[in-house]
Amino acid sequence: METARPGPVPTVDYVHGYSRREGRRLGDQADTLARLLHDGTSYPAGSRVLEIGCGVGAQTVHLLRSSPGAHIVAADRSEESLARARAHVAAAVPDARMEWHRADVYDLPFADGEFDHVFVCFVLEHLPAPRQALAVLRSVLRPGGTLTVIEGDHGSAFFHPDSLYARAAIECQISLQTAAGGNPLLGRELHPLLTGAGYEDVEVRPRTVYADRTRPALAEGFTRDTFTAMVEAVRGDALAAALITSADWDRGIADLHRTAREGTFHYTFFKATAVNPSPPSATKPSPV
Ligand SMILES: C[S@@+](CC[C@H](N)C(=O)[O-])C[C@H]1O[C@@H](n2cnc3c(N)ncnc32)[C@H](O)[C@@H]1O
Repeated sequence: METARPGPVPTVDYVHGYSRREGRRLGDQADTLARLLHDGTSYPAGSRVLEIGCGVGAQTVHLLRSSPGAHIVAADRSEESLARARAHVAAAVPDARMEWHRADVYDLPFADGEFDHVFVCFVLEHLPAPRQALAVLRSVLRPGGTLTVIEGDHGSAFFHPDSLYARAAIECQISLQTAAGGNPLLGRELHPLLTGAGYEDVEVRPRTVYADRTRPALAEGFTRDTFTAMVEAVRGDALAAALITSADWDRGIADLHRTAREGTFHYTFFKATAVNPSPPSATKPSPV
């Protein structure tokens, strides 16, 4: 079944930006959460897999390792990120044979039904029209092909010791991402989004990160270097928009760091799988 491709959507600012620091944060995030997020994702040898919004290749290396025989095609709209992704993959998986494309999810340079599988991680939450993007991705999937989506939901962040200042700093990140056209609470909407975009057999599973002192790798790799680093990065924009005072901001960030050092932290990701429906088979009338 051919799916009509919707028209282009205007480009909006991307809240995290493309700094080297953000590239490192994406790497820390992917490596710290690889087991939690990639568990259950392995594509058969010979299948064609599109990773859209590959960024600096942080998830690409995990896809290549868990699906060594699959043909991975990675795409992103940022040329700079793609250059870093190529270098990262060349260093981490030197024998990888894959393709790279500069492409916008709303306007993909691929043929209808070209892919067996599509993988998308932490991208829909930055898009002003995620359902439209999902419809375009469905058009490049073959009938019966699968989509895997992983997204966060900042409403799932709670921690001890609690801090009004830390929550206010997180709220700034949420406001700025929303103002840039994204949806930082998208994880909880995955099921209706995917069914609304025409996918079948949609299954959504929460994947929870919980860190305390007995899990120092998660406390450092996730609470400090992924989540707190993401919030810290919007300091300038939050102050410029007068969303918070600098004193309250600094206290909020200090409280998040205290949580990483000696407290507890909870966050839930949502991982969805779904199938592009096959067209109804044309049933010939049986001869009488
Ligand atoms: C948070 S990063 C995630 C990168 C990677 N998937 C990961 O998990 O490390 C979001 C990525 O989506 C890309 N992106 C945002 N809007 C896009 C669009 N309209 N088309 C293609 N890529 C887009 C950005 O350039 C960025 O690299």
